[in-house]
Amino acid sequence: MPEPVFDLEAVIKRRGFLWRSFDIYGGAAGFYDYGPLGTAMKNNIVRVWRRYFVQREGFAEIETPNIMPEEVFRASGHLDKFNDVMLECSKCHEVFRAEHVINEGYLEITEEINVGSLALEDIGDLITAKGVQCPMCKGEFRPPYEFNLMFSTTIGRNKTGYLQPETAQGIFLNFQSLYSYFRGKMPFGVAQIGKGFRNEVSPRQGVIRLREFNMAEAEVFINPEERHYKGFDKVKDTNFTLLDQHGALHYLTADEAVAEGVIRHQALAYFMALTQGFLIEIGIDEERLRFRQHEKDEMAHYARDCWDAEVLIEINKKESWIECVGIANRSCYDLEQHMKTTGADLRAFERFEEPIEQEVERLKPDLRLLGRTYRNDAPKVREYLGSLSPPFPGRITMELNGGTVEIPKEFYTIEKRVEKVSGRRYIPAVIEPSFGIDRILYAILQHSFHVGKAREGVDSESYTILKLKPEIAPFKAAVFPLFNRAGMSELAKRVYDSLVETEMQVTLDDSGSIGKRYARQDEVGTPYCITVDHQSLEDKTVTIRDRDSTEQVRIRAEKVPEIIHLLVSGGIEFEELRNPESGGSD
Ligand code: GLY
Repeated sequence: MPEPVFDLEAVIKRRGFLWRSFDIYGGAAGFYDYGPLGTAMKNNIVRVWRRYFVQREGFAEIETPNIMPEEVFRASGHLDKFNDVMLECSKCHEVFRAEHVINEGYLEITEEINVGSLALEDIGDLITAKGVQCPMCKGEFRPPYEFNLMFSTTIGRNKTGYLQPETAQGIFLNFQSLYSYFRGKMPFGVAQIGKGFRNEVSPRQGVIRLREFNMAEAEVFINPEERHYKGFDKVKDTNFTLLDQHGALHYLTADEAVAEGVIRHQALAYFMALTQGFLIEIGIDEERLRFRQHEKDEMAHYARDCWDAEVLIEINKKESWIECVGIANRSCYDLEQHMKTTGADLRAFERFEEPIEQEVERLKPDLRLLGRTYRNDAPKVREYLGSLSPPFPGRITMELNGGTVEIPKEFYTIEKRVEKVSGRRYIPAVIEPSFGIDRILYAILQHSFHVGKAREGVDSESYTILKLKPEIAPFKAAVFPLFNRAGMSELAKRVYDSLVETEMQVTLDDSGSIGKRYARQDEVGTPYCITVDHQSLEDKTVTIRDRDSTEQVRIRAEKVPEIIHLLVSGGIEFEELRNPESGGSD
């Protein structure tokens, strides 16, 4: 008997899920192409994501450019703080992420070290104290250094720009327009699905660490004073596996986790529950899924709290928990930064039930200076300054005569007075579920990969099957004419066309034995195979075979599109097809 074929990587490549990019030029680490089946599967994942994180939540989706000017990332903190600590070998000049060298077994330590929490000197000291050498050539490492992960480019002739490391910034920059779009109603959420770019220095984990990757992010703007989140009651009984930032493991419901302070905000718990539901629905194994809270020093520069959804997968022959979603509390950080830098008012307004008397700060214009400088426009400038309320931006700008002018600081002072106020302005906080689509897709492939016992028409003792959820599978059904003769091909083509007409993802396969064709479809996760045989020509019925049970039932050919739609959407179970009422066998 031949050796069992159990090689997911080979299936992924041979069947067209993922290919190394630029392969005929020798490839480049950190870049992967999606082949036809991978593209179809990714689109299916994104479709379900939209259902969960846009449509059902009433969020909006936008698209903004991948390239942004330097100022954006100076304000967002990415220019200064979005760095990896690197180690370069003084002999062979190979470069490694310090985290990789420290935590991947080169160092003889028993506990994971959070490299993000160590200063550069501490990392250098640790490397020296442990005598760690270059894994390639055993050379000594040079002192560690920081490397910014953004790809830079030039916009036009000489303006520096960067490829976005996250899709989130495009949403923050549009806050004013989005707030108006939602007619000032808080909370609201905005999603963006797009590419992120990170210039990883030496990615060694295949599709897990990409330099150009697919992201789906939602930025949810909330009132930072508000501790409740709408809809939390719907998810409060969700069971979580939680590894907190102190290393303690908890098995709690969302409600318990919030009540016990393990998850510190209802909105975080809400999006963790949604994330868990989404991941399980698309085929992540519940047993290989957990949430891990970032340690204080591990957090991204913009985050106040963050829980990663981690999946257990095998990489480089080792099982590891890998982040595939980050659910962060970004607080008011981003809007505050962009407001400080641009002077744009990125605040929301909360109306009080009753107006209240309050001591307020207002800008008192110097009327003499205004008159002298702005002449006929002085009343407009006075009115504008008088309309502003705290916190005042560092630079005050306004639109005047078709241009933007900055009002110098000496043109106004801040004065306190008692006023009746009807509400307050505040900078919204942001809760952000951020999904790495490539990692999720790869984890689903691993979690769906099964080795079955020998089946019909397969030569080897074992047999590979991708048990993909029907809505994620690249093909929902395959149509086979049993033989290429006497009307079978025509009927099979008619059945295939009827499925295509209803926008079903299907394939037609007429080559090789029927057993081999089933095997071919099982290997790429097609949940249903429809065969046109001799009986079909007599009574216009076809067989439909279920991938996981391998059971077959006979149904009327004209019913195929309706039945496949019901099966894929979960409207009926395969077993129910034995019931004649369902349109199954006659
Ligand atoms: N926006 C989340 C991230 O950059 O990972």
